[in-house]
Amino acid sequence: MNLVLLGPPGAGKGTQAKRLQERYGIVQVSTGDMLRAEVAAGSAIGREAKAVMEAGQLVSDDILVRILAQRISKPDCAQGFILDGFPRTVPQAQALDAMLAAKGLHLDAVIELRVDDAALIERIAGRYTCAKCGAGYHDSFHRPRAQGVCDVCGSTEFTRRADDRRETVTARLEAYHRQTAPILPHYAAQGRLYQVDGMADIDQVSAELVAVLDRVPGAAARAAGDHEKLMSSR
Ligand code: AP5
Ligand code: MG
Ligand code: ZN
Repeated sequence: MNLVLLGPPGAGKGTQAKRLQERYGIVQVSTGDMLRAEVAAGSAIGREAKAVMEAGQLVSDDILVRILAQRISKPDCAQGFILDGFPRTVPQAQALDAMLAAKGLHLDAVIELRVDDAALIERIAGRYTCAKCGAGYHDSFHRPRAQGVCDVCGSTEFTRRADDRRETVTARLEAYHRQTAPILPHYAAQGRLYQVDGMADIDQVSAELVAVLDRVPGAAARAAGDHEKLMSSR
């Protein structure tokens, strides 16, 4: 099953992609996480992307199409993937269609998480992650069970993203409305676009996503089959 999660910064793409990854045994592919890894590694791509990301702008289509094509060619994507943060422009959406068609694949669903801009600023400003395992938390909406200790790995170190400052978030929201929202009609015309209310609480959004995927012809069955294959190959 191949999915795209679409939505503005803070819509919950990363949160929900991680849950879908566990439920269906398909991998989360987050272009934002990949770019942050390049920046941390100080690679050529990272050096080019750093300032652009910190300004809340989009990194060039050329770079993104290249890194996405490499990523979805890796063996772990053969069972399916959840794209989180790609495509983000009409040229990226077109490049993705072509890339998948060349492999005899297609997207099962593109799901838009619909949210309110004002709420997003609060969500992003409170967000932090475990420095060791990457588990996501939030100052008000999702605190670790024991204060200061990661639920998943027990680490006591956490980090906040460099582009989560209030001014940058506003620029990221503008980029979403100007450059990313225009890809919605592209997928609506293909009959692959679904919408979920991203303002509900995290568990409810997950439940709605599963309900949507149950409605996509063949998708859940394919994921179940993929999941069994994955388990039996361990
Ligand atoms: P990217 O990393 O993709 O960031 P983004 O799209 O701005 O989205 P976020 O990761 O901020 O939000 P999210 O939707 O994942 O929400 P989350 O689950 O964390 O991209 C970063 C940058 O990289 C871009 O600005 C660009 O420069 C570059 N880039 C990446 N891809 C690119 C591309 N294809 N082309 C060009 N440039 C690219 O949730 C947010 C918080 O809210 C969390 O704390 C969470 O716990 C909480 N939360 C989640 N859901 C709920 C809920 N239902 N209720 C309450 N709280 C919730
Ligand atoms: Mg994210
Ligand atoms: Zn952790």
